[in-house]
Amino acid sequence: MNKQEIILANKEFLFPAVFHFYKEPLVVARAKDQYVWDADGNQYLDFLGGIVTISVGHCNDEINAKVHKQLDTLQHVSTVFANEPQAALAKKIASITPGGKLTKSFFTNSGTEANETAILTARCYTGSTEIIALRHSYHGRSAMAMTLTGQGSWRLGPSQAGVIHAHNAYCYRCPFGLTYPDCEVRCATDMEELIRTTTGGRVAGFIAEPIQGVGGYITPPKEYFQIIEKIVRNHGGIFISDEVQTGWGRTGSKWFGIEQWGVTPDIITGAKGLANGSPIGLTVAKPEVADGLKGVTLSTFGGNPVTATAAKAVIDFIEEQRLMDNCTSVGAYFRGRLEELKEKHELIGDVRGMGLMQAIELVEDRKTKAPASAQSALLMEATRENGILVGKGGLYGNVIRVTPPMNIGRSDVDNFIGALDKSLAACGAVAAGSAR
Ligand SMILES: Cc1ncc(COP(=O)(O)O)c(C=O)c1O
Repeated sequence: MNKQEIILANKEFLFPAVFHFYKEPLVVARAKDQYVWDADGNQYLDFLGGIVTISVGHCNDEINAKVHKQLDTLQHVSTVFANEPQAALAKKIASITPGGKLTKSFFTNSGTEANETAILTARCYTGSTEIIALRHSYHGRSAMAMTLTGQGSWRLGPSQAGVIHAHNAYCYRCPFGLTYPDCEVRCATDMEELIRTTTGGRVAGFIAEPIQGVGGYITPPKEYFQIIEKIVRNHGGIFISDEVQTGWGRTGSKWFGIEQWGVTPDIITGAKGLANGSPIGLTVAKPEVADGLKGVTLSTFGGNPVTATAAKAVIDFIEEQRLMDNCTSVGAYFRGRLEELKEKHELIGDVRGMGLMQAIELVEDRKTKAPASAQSALLMEATRENGILVGKGGLYGNVIRVTPPMNIGRSDVDNFIGALDKSLAACGAVAAGSAR
């Protein structure tokens, strides 16, 4: 099929709910390392990584060699048979969870399923039903995962019972109108009243992303999760860290985002970047919590030998190449360069994130902080024109999200910043023109 036929077939044969980033869909033909090429042969520097999924570069030679070999050895058995790749992956994951305390894994195919499994396990383990999630969160697209999600546009259909939403730590737009640190982290201490007024006092658990991804890389102050953990545990609940975006070293120096905040969760969920593009979901729990899931369950493709081989290869690659440290150093350099752009472009109201997970929030006016949603759409088109791929998010669609492969270098950052600078300038000029 040529480009036009692909676009037409998409329109005719896919659900209309399948959406694209740009006015004209970008048809991707091939990719290698940090680059993607479209159907017309144009090259793009990919700083989105298939939505935080390409951890170690597209079609990574080392990962793919192992995957090809496994594909020709054993492709599928399902969880009702044991296989070496699944066992080796589970053993490896157990060795790198915080404090080596989460040692039992259940594998599925997506972040959504990983979170479904986590919620079920929390409820079975505690015997309670109430789950607390955060506003502005994103946890997937099953009925339960959409109910957990704290953004209206991603919640379709009826909600499930037994889920309430606490305040997130959105300091740039504090829900209490306060300023950190004078606020004494009111958004976190509010948890006590939330539990006392909207539940029977016993809860099954709390689920959160250490840095909210789809929400726009909302990064909490350092005490936030520790305060919440204490309150939730006092009410019988367990702590679930959704690491679908923040896992595997992306935030820098540590394997998991929640470790940046000094909390040891009872369950971690993962997906996306764990297998660099092969579909995977992971729910890893403390043994006593995993034991709480009584009875039997299976996932046909869970622990699939090919996917498990990919995931183990990704973790080994990150470890051998010290990519967690690369995320810290290149991430800090990247952050500095984004701050420079903020000095130059009024459109940027906030720069936030950690490691190689950075975002800029665009505003029409830095005083009123009115979300610059229309300009964000223009900026997306401009970045495409200038040969870079970025993501968009936030409740108001005004946050540009950037998550390159973890093995990029400073020269990639420089190339990216040059193109983003140019895009912001073009977009600022158009915005000013249309306002006149
Ligand atoms: C934090 C988080 N959790 C869960 C999910 C759902 O993952 P999946 O799309 O693999 O079901 C996502 C997807 O973007 C996510 O960002």
